[in-house]
Amino acid sequence: MKKKKIVAANFKMNKTHVEVREYLKSFFKKLKEFSRTGETHDFNDNAEIVFAPSFTALNEAYNIIEENPEFRNIVKLASQNVYCESSGAYTGEISIDMIKAFNCSYAIIGHSERRWIFNESEELIAKKISAILNYNKKIETDIRNARDNNAEKHSGKSAAILPILCVGENLEIRKSGKAFDFVAAQLDSALNCYTKDLNGGTAQNKDNFRSIKTAKSINSNHEGSGNTNAADIDIGKLVIAYEPIWAIGTGAPMEPEDGEKMHKFIYEYLTDNYCIENFSVIYGGSVTEKNINVLMEKDHIDGVLVGGASLDPQSFFNIYSFAVSK
Ligand code: PGA
Repeated sequence: MKKKKIVAANFKMNKTHVEVREYLKSFFKKLKEFSRTGETHDFNDNAEIVFAPSFTALNEAYNIIEENPEFRNIVKLASQNVYCESSGAYTGEISIDMIKAFNCSYAIIGHSERRWIFNESEELIAKKISAILNYNKKIETDIRNARDNNAEKHSGKSAAILPILCVGENLEIRKSGKAFDFVAAQLDSALNCYTKDLNGGTAQNKDNFRSIKTAKSINSNHEGSGNTNAADIDIGKLVIAYEPIWAIGTGAPMEPEDGEKMHKFIYEYLTDNYCIENFSVIYGGSVTEKNINVLMEKDHIDGVLVGGASLDPQSFFNIYSFAVSK
């Protein structure tokens, strides 16, 4: 089966909830017109659109998606961050439950701005990934128990939350020729809760991951909405966003050929060293309407994470429509 592309918008610290409402209204209008033209007959299955507004706009974004149920399956929400503890005295932080209350399907973890401006350590990033994985295992248990009890719908948490783990080197590392080693080390550090080394991993761990992979949240039910767009979420799935720091917000994207090399490397590295069966590798760093076509032609680029060019609905819509036409 063809992998679904991911076209994600990271609004960063931009847009109030009012502005997000206006933005999404305009974006959905374009999306409706686009789907009516029938330009892509597999429109619904080809790509997922992910919006990561600020925390204060998640509620508004959630409401607008609910108002447009025809797009629930292709438009998802992401939080720009999430903390590793479930509750408590952590001023300024946000929990998985809090973002799930707005039906977030994804959480961006370890964005370079969090790493470099806010000094997020590799250790903290690993804890966040681990917290998400444990949350998803709990979802799986809830679903299984509900099935065992013949419950029509499980009453636990709505569905899984998938991490979008950001990795990427700075210019100095790129110039030194150590970018591949650096990214591999970032992956190893962040993913240490996943089974490393297929041969060395314990059978129990491998079984854990196999069961997560196969458990889909088909019976999930979002509080209040009576529906969820999570039916197709694979709770063991992982998204890696390769974002070379020197290409972020600079208007100077990486050469698509070089991007493809790194993406292929990440593919092979995860396949050779981890029991993660379902992952996507998306690219971020000065993606625009001008370079999306070439990027999406590459075999190992499964989508994009767009910052600056996502802030204008027309520009992000153009990026999306180019991406799905590939
Ligand atoms: P940019 O940001 O598209 O503005 O380069 C990408 C990102 O930081 O995710």
